[in-house]
Amino acid sequence: MSETSRPPLSHADWWRTAVIYQVYVRSFADSNGDGVGDLDGVRARLPYLRSLGVDGLWLNPFYPSPQHDHGYDVVDYRDVHPDYGTLASFDRLIQDAHRLDLKVIVDVVPNHCSIEHPWFREALAAGPGSPERARFHFADGEGDEPPNNWRSIFGGSAWQRVPDGQWYLHTFATEQPDFNWRHPDVEAAFEDVLRFWLDRGVDGLRIDVAHGLHKAEGLPDHEHADCDEVTGDPVNPHAWNQPEVHDVWRSWRAITEEYSQATGRERVLVGEVGLLDTEQLARYQRPDELHQTFFFEFLRAEWDDRSLYDVIDRGLETIAGSGSSVAWVLNNHDMPRSVTRYAGGAPGAGPGDLELGRARARAAAMLMLALPGSAYLYQGEELGLPEVTDLPDHVLTDPMFHRTGGVRRGRDGCRVPLPWRAEHDSFGFSPDGGSGTTWLPQPEWFAEHAADLLLGDGDSMLHLYREALALRHRIPALTSGTGELRWLPAEPGVLAFTRGDGFACAVNCSSRPVVNPIDGTLLLASDPEAGEKLPPNSAVWTLLPDGA
Ligand code: NOJ
Repeated sequence: MSETSRPPLSHADWWRTAVIYQVYVRSFADSNGDGVGDLDGVRARLPYLRSLGVDGLWLNPFYPSPQHDHGYDVVDYRDVHPDYGTLASFDRLIQDAHRLDLKVIVDVVPNHCSIEHPWFREALAAGPGSPERARFHFADGEGDEPPNNWRSIFGGSAWQRVPDGQWYLHTFATEQPDFNWRHPDVEAAFEDVLRFWLDRGVDGLRIDVAHGLHKAEGLPDHEHADCDEVTGDPVNPHAWNQPEVHDVWRSWRAITEEYSQATGRERVLVGEVGLLDTEQLARYQRPDELHQTFFFEFLRAEWDDRSLYDVIDRGLETIAGSGSSVAWVLNNHDMPRSVTRYAGGAPGAGPGDLELGRARARAAAMLMLALPGSAYLYQGEELGLPEVTDLPDHVLTDPMFHRTGGVRRGRDGCRVPLPWRAEHDSFGFSPDGGSGTTWLPQPEWFAEHAADLLLGDGDSMLHLYREALALRHRIPALTSGTGELRWLPAEPGVLAFTRGDGFACAVNCSSRPVVNPIDGTLLLASDPEAGEKLPPNSAVWTLLPDGA
């Protein structure tokens, strides 16, 4: 399909079925040769994203930050970190993206800021009991004990003591103090941030830890805390999912609606809500709250037909009746890459069986892109990149690694700068003649995944994604409201379903060949051997005879 034949995404509810490509700016493409990705690098690669066939991009935080958590520790929510460019580079990027009919989503981090944020500096200087401290959670401890037993998600206590003896709360790294969302200044400041980016033309906002923000009044101990020095406490009922947070999403939704109506272009809110309870998760995407939340259970599901079947049904049930759609995810900047997960590998533990991982990741991509809803891809997923599992300790930057004394290896292995050109320094991540070193080292085998090499190989992962995305745009059942999912009977180990009248997908999750349960014209296969039989760990898309 040519680049111009893709239908424009101007329709109001584009987000319901859009495929959004997540750009980890630091590791996507470097335009100035300093070994760190930047916004001009992203801009230069927009044609690549357009020809990949995605509908838009989500940019991880690019704001001024001391980078203790690579941009999730924000100093100024309305500017660009000098390593990544300037506001002018952002404006050029969004203009070019829109010219190519690509949506742009930016990341907002409302739960916490950076210890270098002006408000936090003022709070430290102003001392105990000051109005400046009231914008954060400062409290007195008991002797040398912190104010309560809450744990940081990255390991250790969630409290840090300051020189005057008080403590401040940080749900994540020490350098990320939590805002006090019961303070009116905080709410007002973030509404301004929202308007700032909407005025600059963004199509949506991805909201970091959208089930965080408010903390229970009085900050009581978590009575049933079951965690040690290294594990976090994602289920602390006093730290997460407080009822008041829904008021924030209602007021943010009202703001985005204002912009959508004024400009005829729907602006969306996509929440990162780390709740396992799907009933609770569903509450975040009620019609007057967030448009969508990522459905992480899909990413976490084991590779077997039962788990995938259950998780898909749960995803669809979660949004049923909400007017929302599921945002399916297989990869992101916080999780080991899917090829490695399916291979049984892990950071620090080795790559696993990569041939197996690759076969499953190809089939999983086809499964995800055949499901009703939208999908979020993470950069490098289309290159079939495995996790870099053997980064040496001295290059690791994740606060999780440092806070747990190395017990949790952290997330650097999925953030290694992308390989674009096999035969070039830094595999084309930086321009030729640049510093030659990238902020995280790339292994030699990244050459095998370079985009230029994969483009010349019709069987590559990149071609699979390009073909799947092109078909997705061409087959109305995949992106219109008419394409309801209907499960088909299939033998154990196999998933099969139709979308609308004319399309079917079958996935063989088992380790033996099976008879393809679907008759029709083969549109796409994750394994070249697929046909009447489905090889182990493979998927096919089929066009059904009329009215089948
Ligand atoms: C979730 C983000 O995805 C992750 O990368 C970050 O470390 C935490 N929130 C804290 O902001």
